[in-house]
Amino acid sequence: MSDPEVLIVGRLLQAGDAFVSGNDLGSELKLSRVSVWSHMERLRRQGFGFEAVRSRGYRLKKVPTDLNPILVKVHCSLRSMPGIEFRTEIDSTNSEAERLLASGTPTPFVVLSRSQSRGRGRLGRRWASPDTGNLYASFAFRPHIPPARMQTFTLWMGVNVCETLRNFGRFSPAVKWPNDILHEGRKLGGMLTEARIDADQIRDVVFGLGLNVNIMPSQWPEELVDSAASMAGILGGKIDINRMTAALLGRILNAYDRFVENDYAESFVEMWERFDLLRDNPVTIVQGDERTSGIARGIDPQGALRLELEDGSVLPFLAGDATLDKSGRR
Ligand code: BTN
Repeated sequence: MSDPEVLIVGRLLQAGDAFVSGNDLGSELKLSRVSVWSHMERLRRQGFGFEAVRSRGYRLKKVPTDLNPILVKVHCSLRSMPGIEFRTEIDSTNSEAERLLASGTPTPFVVLSRSQSRGRGRLGRRWASPDTGNLYASFAFRPHIPPARMQTFTLWMGVNVCETLRNFGRFSPAVKWPNDILHEGRKLGGMLTEARIDADQIRDVVFGLGLNVNIMPSQWPEELVDSAASMAGILGGKIDINRMTAALLGRILNAYDRFVENDYAESFVEMWERFDLLRDNPVTIVQGDERTSGIARGIDPQGALRLELEDGSVLPFLAGDATLDKSGRR
């Protein structure tokens, strides 16, 4: 954590209601008093508020409540911080991550944005991305592993996202194969993994995550009113998006390391069982014009959804859209 503004905010947050003298701040952070002051001016322009009292020093009066890269870094307990590329608005964080990868930006890094003008979902769908306190994030990696190993990547990331969300309130998040995050049947988030492949190796991967965090029910676009949920809507109050983003960052980077080292299979099986929305439920899988119905029986080691058909046989599905059938045999 060497960014002076991150250090200043971190130190003042740590002091809570107490004042920290300008001298102490300067010497602890190895900055001149003038430099401390000019960094505080920049922080003020981002929505931070400081109280300055002669002979006592400074204390933090106000922190921004919207997504803020300084606060994400302050709350991040990672020993080695990934690059954080912050935008207030962007076409798509996945597209921005792809551009940064193409221009040689070192990995891992994450692109965070408060809004997207062309948020992308799976199968060319649009991902509504208003500036209403939601999270739009894309993590970029260069894993150098065989493409076949990527089949379980999004699923593994999905259970890790669910585990993180559970620590932020009384949620019961679930993963709906292959890329949805739901709470009680409503969509809380979505994941979009895009990889570029060289001959027999993955060149780079972008893991995009859209999470409905602080959008309030009245702010949903008409078409999503009945199908979407947000963390704030579920809890009845806003949650600290910067703390949550920092927690997600830590969890996802750790999950990525375990994935690349192939040290995740056991946890994956256990977590998938816990967070699998479809398990033992009647489901229809749609692949283009084809629909297949059956009972979902978990996933196989390749990440394929196992569908038990009426005759008792089990078919693996590596791709498709899954919908829970309200009626049918269980
Ligand atoms: C889906 O459910 O179809 C996947 C949605 C993924 C949306 C996220 S938001 C951040 C990242 N940038 C994008 O353009 N898409 C992903």
